Amino acid sequence: MDELERENSPEAIGSEEGFEESLRPSAIDDFVGQTRLKENLRVFITAARARGEALDHVLFYGPPGLGKTTLAHIISNELGSQITVTSGPAVDKAGDLAAILTNVETKDVLFIDEIHRLSPVIEEMLYPAMEDYHIDIIIGQGPSARTVRLEIQKFTLVGATTRAGLLTSPLRDRFGVILRFDFYTPEEIGTIIKRSARILDVEVTEDGAMEIAGRSRGTPRIANRLLRRVRDFAEVKADGVVTERVASEALAMLEIDSMGFDKMDRRILLTIIDTFAGGPVGVEAISAALHEERDAIEDLYEPYLIQEGFINRTPRGRIATAKAYAHLNRPYEEKSNDQQKLF
Ligand SMILES: Nc1ncnc2c1ncn2[C@@H]1O[C@H](COP(=O)(O)OP(=O)(O)OP(=O)(O)O)[C@@H](O)[C@H]1O
Ligand SMILES: [Mg+2]
Repeated sequence: MDELERENSPEAIGSEEGFEESLRPSAIDDFVGQTRLKENLRVFITAARARGEALDHVLFYGPPGLGKTTLAHIISNELGSQITVTSGPAVDKAGDLAAILTNVETKDVLFIDEIHRLSPVIEEMLYPAMEDYHIDIIIGQGPSARTVRLEIQKFTLVGATTRAGLLTSPLRDRFGVILRFDFYTPEEIGTIIKRSARILDVEVTEDGAMEIAGRSRGTPRIANRLLRRVRDFAEVKADGVVTERVASEALAMLEIDSMGFDKMDRRILLTIIDTFAGGPVGVEAISAALHEERDAIEDLYEPYLIQEGFINRTPRGRIATAKAYAHLNRPYEEKSNDQQKLF
């Protein structure tokens, strides 16, 4: 299935960048939710500022669209420093990283998105940079090659990844602060929607905001996207006001159900239930049956299905729960229940 067609994919769609930018909070106080994470971060930032030192390196992990990039920008705003943004796949040559690191100033933030995708060579170059603020670069080739040590300023690396488990342990160990992003509650998403509606100058009722919030999979990126789609619908089919009814009709048209699941989510659940008798089934088999990449299933679809209790992860594979059967109007077989007890 074409990713671009997914209205509720947690991944950013190319054309959305400018739109997302406009809705991005720039101060920590405007960043809704993630309460514990935010409080931790606030303490670290205040302490670093009081000591006049650079903030410890920070690793953010969690599903896409929950605000990792946004919070990296907020950190640099709060520190009153500059931010350089790059990503694991973008720094593919040692020279690229050397150029970035020799340009950072004291207390600047270097944000590396998808940090688990750095090549091993680049990753090794990062170790001394993070630990002792220097890099070793090799000049020349063959017998005349020599290593030159370059000092760099005391910067803060903010890394983001969808799964902390994908990071090598030497890299992970070099982060002083490791923070996990959780899915947002419907109330928090409702607050984000009302804030976005104010910025976009869209009139939305309390019920309208909550209707969208309940179907946004706990993900601000999806909430903002759905708000935009519903606004279009409201302008064309209603008087421009996003009410509960307007939101509900618009989302039904987009085939997003009461849980916020789209066709792909339902196909995953139906595959486990119908093709694999409810499981347990390995993610490889699900991916083959659906012609969908394993990574996409594990990173984009599964986290929310698991968090909401529609899929259980067991050592032998995925199992569809009674909740999944009920949601898809399939009779629940006790057999799957017994199987689940085995683990
Ligand atoms: N807590 C929040 N409050 C308000 N808006 C938010 C919040 N978190 C995220 N957003 C909005 O959601 C959108 C996506 O956020 P962001 O790009 O930071 O996600 P991300 O975690 O970096 O995703 P990815 O893993 O795909 O890079 C942005 O437009 C941002 O404005
Ligand atoms: Mg991001």
